[in-house]
Amino acid sequence: MRPIEVSGLIKRYGRTEALRGLTFSVREGEIYGLLGPNGAGKTTTLKILVGLLTPDAGVARICGHDVVRDRVRALEAVGYVPENPVCFQNLTVREFLEFVGALRRLGEDDVHEAIDRYLSLFGLSEKRDELLGNLSRGMIQKVLVSAAFMVRPRVLVMDEPMAGMDPEAQHAFKEEVRRMTSQGVTALISSHLLDMVERFCTRVGIINEGVLVAEGTVEEVKSRAESGEEATLEEVFLRIVGE
Ligand SMILES: Nc1ncnc2c1ncn2[C@@H]1O[C@H](COP(=O)(O)OP(=O)(O)OP(=O)(O)O)[C@@H](O)[C@H]1O
Ligand SMILES: [Mg+2]
Repeated sequence: MRPIEVSGLIKRYGRTEALRGLTFSVREGEIYGLLGPNGAGKTTTLKILVGLLTPDAGVARICGHDVVRDRVRALEAVGYVPENPVCFQNLTVREFLEFVGALRRLGEDDVHEAIDRYLSLFGLSEKRDELLGNLSRGMIQKVLVSAAFMVRPRVLVMDEPMAGMDPEAQHAFKEEVRRMTSQGVTALISSHLLDMVERFCTRVGIINEGVLVAEGTVEEVKSRAESGEEATLEEVFLRIVGE
């Protein structure tokens, strides 16, 4: 059993076939980068994994639990960062994180400790009593990532988590994900930041038009694409997706 398993996923929105039999899995402790052009199906895949969308066919499992049939058990293991930062405009940062902690039945002391830790990690401590509606895009991203980290996930599912984050926060984010995965947490990250992915992810999958078109470590993907050792992930990506 792998912490994240996706098999033969098909998802249609009306006439659009967003996923056309997508299959991949992520091993324990990996930082897996899910790459692909706009509209490739990354967000659709991540939403299916966290039970926000139901696939038309195929199976998605988190820690062995089918996300459709055993949804609650599957979701208990997950910390999720959504693509569009829709959150509660009229809650303060602290209220929002307390709310997430309560939903996930974390102890109050643990929640307060986590709030202090992550707000300080992301340089957001002075904003703890600010309304979410008054935060900048990057600040909201920091709060959403803090919420995902806070719930003691076994699996992190993150849709472009670094969007809008300043370099210092990106660095803190990567350090924390590395720390968590070194302790057995599994991370799935969708991203367009190929320079970052190249240095940060332990394995990548490239999807295009709803199917997996390449997978492996960055080195493996490069060698399979026969792009030469000096090619960057960006060059390899453009070549694979352009075919
Ligand atoms: N709610 C929806 N209704 C109709 N079509 C949708 C909906 N959501 C996504 N799609 C379509 O499904 C396809 C996959 O979209 P998805 O959001 O999964 O792509 P993505 O890989 O996350 O793209 P991006 O890199 O832009 O975030 C696209 O063709 C998109 O237009
Ligand atoms: Mg997306």
